[in-house]
Amino acid sequence: MPRKPAKPLWTSPLWTRIDRYFGELLAPSDEKLDSAIKANRKARLPAIDVSPLLGKFLQILVQITKAKRVLEIGTLGGYSTIWMARALPRGGRIVSLEFCPRHAEIARGNLRNAGLLNRVDIRVGPALSSLPQLKSSGAGPFDFIFIDADKVNNPKYLQWALKLSRRGTVIVVDNVVRQGSVVKAKSSDPDIVGTRRCLEMMAAEPRLSAVALQTVGVKGLDGFAMALVIR
Ligand SMILES: C[S@@+](CC[C@H](N)C(=O)[O-])C[C@H]1O[C@@H](n2cnc3c(N)ncnc32)[C@H](O)[C@@H]1O
Repeated sequence: MPRKPAKPLWTSPLWTRIDRYFGELLAPSDEKLDSAIKANRKARLPAIDVSPLLGKFLQILVQITKAKRVLEIGTLGGYSTIWMARALPRGGRIVSLEFCPRHAEIARGNLRNAGLLNRVDIRVGPALSSLPQLKSSGAGPFDFIFIDADKVNNPKYLQWALKLSRRGTVIVVDNVVRQGSVVKAKSSDPDIVGTRRCLEMMAAEPRLSAVALQTVGVKGLDGFAMALVIR
């Protein structure tokens, strides 16, 4: 009997199953996280929240860095915000920037329901307007910064992150793989151009030591970049 050709790994849902297994074991959901996801889907927000495991990873990073001041760019329904806010020490705060008033309203409801709204300040408007306002109002330096909004603006968000950071600040930029398209040097897709430029800036910036990791999981091929402000 001729052997059936093996199914190539890249068409297999294996990594989804592994991610679910890891997630259920190590980043189990609870009533508050579940309600947030349900409220987001009910309000028809795009299903682009971080995965449970990335949420847990962000939470652990906030704990490792002992972050008291966190900046998030891109709130959506506040799912990642809940994970991070739970890791804050007493008196810790997250400033989360969101363009869309409806997303911000849903996020406030989710954070209120999770008992965390008193730790989070959601600022509505284009982040490129909110960031200079934050700087001029004397906010920061932030200890941990999570960039997860419109990818085209990632180079500018990185510049603002540097202005709002100190030595030791950790900066995470989500979704840098773009389903693999990040390697297309000639791409004119604004999200890919923005992602590549941001990574190049991370590489060239002497104040940063940076890395990028690709991941596979419930969201398919994905990845994030992370940088430490070293001076
Ligand atoms: C990927 S989602 C954020 C997901 C969220 N961090 C989570 O994991 O739960 C991106 C969010 O950024 C917001 N956004 C897009 N462009 C923006 C901008 N210019 N300024 C601020 N927020 C923006 C979108 O409205 C959307 O809610």
